[in-house]
Amino acid sequence: MSDSIQTIPVRTAPDYTVSIGPGLLTSCGQRLREVLGPCRAAVIADSTVAPLYAPTVTASLSAAGFSVCSYQFPAGEAHKNLSTLSEILEFLAREHLTRSDCVVALGGGVAGDMAGFAAAVYLRGIRYVQLPTTLLAAVDSSVGGKTAVDLTAGKNLAGAFCQPAAVICDTDCLKTLPPDVFADGAAEAVKTGVLSDEALFALFEDGTLTADPGEVIARCVAYKAGVVERDEKEQGERKLLNLGHTVGHAIEKCSGYVIPHGHAVAAGLAVIARAAEALGWTEESLAARITACLSKNGLPTGTDYSAEALAEAALSDKKRAGGDITLVVPRKIGHCELRKVPVADLLPIIRAGLEA
Ligand code: NAD
Ligand code: GLY
Repeated sequence: MSDSIQTIPVRTAPDYTVSIGPGLLTSCGQRLREVLGPCRAAVIADSTVAPLYAPTVTASLSAAGFSVCSYQFPAGEAHKNLSTLSEILEFLAREHLTRSDCVVALGGGVAGDMAGFAAAVYLRGIRYVQLPTTLLAAVDSSVGGKTAVDLTAGKNLAGAFCQPAAVICDTDCLKTLPPDVFADGAAEAVKTGVLSDEALFALFEDGTLTADPGEVIARCVAYKAGVVERDEKEQGERKLLNLGHTVGHAIEKCSGYVIPHGHAVAAGLAVIARAAEALGWTEESLAARITACLSKNGLPTGTDYSAEALAEAALSDKKRAGGDITLVVPRKIGHCELRKVPVADLLPIIRAGLEA
């Protein structure tokens, strides 16, 4: 188990550092003071995370000289919407945050996406930092600057690219995660393993994720940082990070956002892997290896929604461009490719992934 603090640079403009290790919330004020200088800090957290971790964060920020205010919103994807965003923006205005102040996104991907988006648009943009408390936020959403809220028409349809000024990941926060929420993060981590290389993927097959999450987080973040540095605005390579997401987002939408993102992505990854194998796009037995790994990490490998329902939901997805949709197809562990297919082909592809 790695108890040391790992730091990973993300060389965007401006650049920032992701710090990963145990106990970091207690010292986050001092670390953030070095990055931000003295300012007012608005801590935004959901109703589950706020009672668990906001007192530690606000105490640390206050001790480091920040003037702190905090806002709480109801937990859950159902609240990642324009209405909560509007309430956060009104809060920032009521608290007189200025351009030199900072938003502190404390929590999972929902808090990070929404507080990050609020920071991106408040006063045309103020700084924000990410303090991820779920595995999903640690391995994926806190890094890379994608911020968003959901619209009725679909996931993340309103948002901005806006890099955080710092990410501080206290691995002790993972100890209070319910197993299902931990598994949500495993889905994005396994996705990263499929994209990245055999060595990282093996950590999800051999149980390292649960034994030493800090090590796994650091490796996932290092991989994502490289992709984001090369393609910050998702013009090409970064689209690969959407592996499993076309069907995943469709599952979330069909469920009315009751099925959580990580579980939906896991099923979406399994569906595209099986479809790719059935259509001869990928090496044999890859789908079985991916689905076994997902199952080992407590994740689903299928869905009860029909191919028709999923295809219809997927076609409102952002990844659709005109008459085509771009799919991320696994070829082998460590090698995935973008494949543009006509919209009309999506239904048979999903059907192949459900039936195989
Ligand atoms: P979440 O933020 O809703 O957190 C899941 C649940 O865990 C919530 O109820 C939360 O209150 C609770 N929780 C958080 N930390 C806890 C802790 N330490 N102990 C106990 N409970 C805790 O969901 P998530 O899975 O973290 O994130 C999913 C969101 O992330 C989705 O909206 C998805 O679209 C988004 N996402 C964004 C990106 C990106 O690049 N911006 C990438 C992947 C996913
Ligand atoms: N989670 C996908 C991305 O950050 O691009």
